[in-house]
Amino acid sequence: MPTVALTVGGEPVVTKLAMKMEDSLQAFAVRAACFIGELDVPFSEEFDGLDFGATHIIAYIGDEPVGAVRLRWFQSFAMPERLAVIQRFRGHNIGSILLERCRVQAQSRGCNLLYSQVPPRDIGYWEKQGWRRLVAEDTGVQPKRIVAMVKAVDPSKPLPEIEAPEAIALHREGRLDSTGAPEGTVSN
Ligand SMILES: CC(C)(COP(=O)(O)OP(=O)(O)OC[C@H]1O[C@@H](n2cnc3c(N)ncnc32)[C@H](O)[C@@H]1OP(=O)(O)O)[C@@H](O)C(=O)NCCC(=O)NCCS
Repeated sequence: MPTVALTVGGEPVVTKLAMKMEDSLQAFAVRAACFIGELDVPFSEEFDGLDFGATHIIAYIGDEPVGAVRLRWFQSFAMPERLAVIQRFRGHNIGSILLERCRVQAQSRGCNLLYSQVPPRDIGYWEKQGWRRLVAEDTGVQPKRIVAMVKAVDPSKPLPEIEAPEAIALHREGRLDSTGAPEGTVSN
């Protein structure tokens, strides 16, 4: 179900769930431009093997994909990540409507918590979007590489208890080998 939330230059911005491979490729193209092209993220980090179990949401102006976000599903939360808007379309709240579409999508699946992991430089962006740190800022000398952020799916309700403490939720997910098994496990 496409949603129209705003216009840019008189054209509606529409968000859609990726339903076909072509849609997913459009999400991947946006991410490749922003993360690999602009932010120098290595390909292997950006395309980490977790894309095919995820929901992809794409923002369009006309036929042009201008933004994308990936949403992964866990037992106690949904996790938006890889949020990207093509540079020349930034500053029009497209990132904001992509995150809002994640919230609505989570609500439609009966999920009540959104959780994400962001680098410290992006905390301000997520706070502007109504997110908050899972754990209050610590004063440790070691700066954190990633910070857990959360938002209630229903903003009128208190934030649900998260089952995984930050230390567990922030663990690195295992990489997959070419057979699709976690690296280091023996296959038959
Ligand atoms: C982060 C990103 C998705 C925002 O897209 P966008 O459509 O321009 O965002 P919105 O229009 O919804 O919000 C723009 C606002 O966020 C602010 N903002 C953007 N990046 C920010 C950051 N890293 N920290 C704090 N504020 C930030 C802008 O200054 C602007 O503020 P204003 O509304 O007060 O002028 C886009 O900048 C992007 O694709 N960046 C490269 C990829 C990236 O870093 N992704 C990580 C996700 S945070």
